[in-house]
Amino acid sequence: MSTSTLSESEIDSLLKAARGAMNNSHSPYSNLRVGAALLAQDGSVHAGCNVESASYGLTICAERNAVFRAIADGVRGFRAVLITTDRDEALMPCGACRQVLHELDSELEVIVIGGGGERIDTTIASLLPSAIGEAEIKGS
Ligand code: THU
Repeated sequence: MSTSTLSESEIDSLLKAARGAMNNSHSPYSNLRVGAALLAQDGSVHAGCNVESASYGLTICAERNAVFRAIADGVRGFRAVLITTDRDEALMPCGACRQVLHELDSELEVIVIGGGGERIDTTIASLLPSAIGEAEIKGS
């Protein structure tokens, strides 16, 4: 397990933004509130929450919501993502979000914090080894 290179104040900013988004979660079906916040290379922070649909497969996870918001805002280049939920334990990102986060930056740091304070520091490369990406699709 890696240790984050982020400062405690950077982690505090991400946690605050992720918790703010988590509190806006629309999750009437699972009752699981998730918040995610990305730290960009320029120091800006971009948060997202999970948004559920009555057609369950249309649900978007907090992590991808944060990515899509940041991209739509024109931001490129990211250092880390912090993910939190309203459950006590640290809940790891799903496979779909791992793929999207890996494409955002294959060296992205991932910090997962449970509502009870449990914290896991890792990297997207550890969470999704042998990932397919732009280079593999385009060929050499
Ligand atoms: N969820 C996320 O927001 N991120 C994940 O990585 C896993 C799952 C959400 C989707 C759904 O609203 C709820 O958690 C239960 O799966």
